[in-house]
Amino acid sequence: MTSNITFTIIKPLAVSKGYAGPILNKISESGFKITALKMLQLTQKEAETFYEVHKERPFYNDLVEFMVSGPIVVGVLEKENAVEDYRQLIGATDPAKAEEGTIRKLYADSVQANAVHGSDSDENAAIEASFFFSASDRF
Ligand code: RTP
Ligand code: MG
Repeated sequence: MTSNITFTIIKPLAVSKGYAGPILNKISESGFKITALKMLQLTQKEAETFYEVHKERPFYNDLVEFMVSGPIVVGVLEKENAVEDYRQLIGATDPAKAEEGTIRKLYADSVQANAVHGSDSDENAAIEASFFFSASDRF
């Protein structure tokens, strides 16, 4: 099977608690190759655009406010079956429901501050990766 990609964000609270290193380690140990990586702080406009699909959801404003609250780490991950395997590795959206050993079980605080984002389809992975990285920043 050919490798494909997913896109991840390590969210502000996980970064501020010093979990970026351990989370990246877990990602590498789990067989993902990191092909792009950077730390940045989203502007209000960038966060609104990135989460536009959730615009009508009741948590949208709070989510955008949280995502601009501090620096994040964004990355592109390559692996066979990357999208599905990464969703498995991060666990359920609500960390209280996430399986033992998953990133959200280990490092998340709440449904909103759930440590990481992972793309939900190959199509969205490609869109999200190019939202943050130009072709020359991907290896
Ligand atoms: P993600 O996109 O970040 O990987 O998370 P997900 O697919 O597991 O969850 P999704 O439904 O796409 O929601 C996106 C993010 O919105 C926040 N959220 N808050 N307060 C709430 O009820 C609520 N529900 C979702 C979370 O930060 C979630 O990751
Ligand atoms: Mg999602």
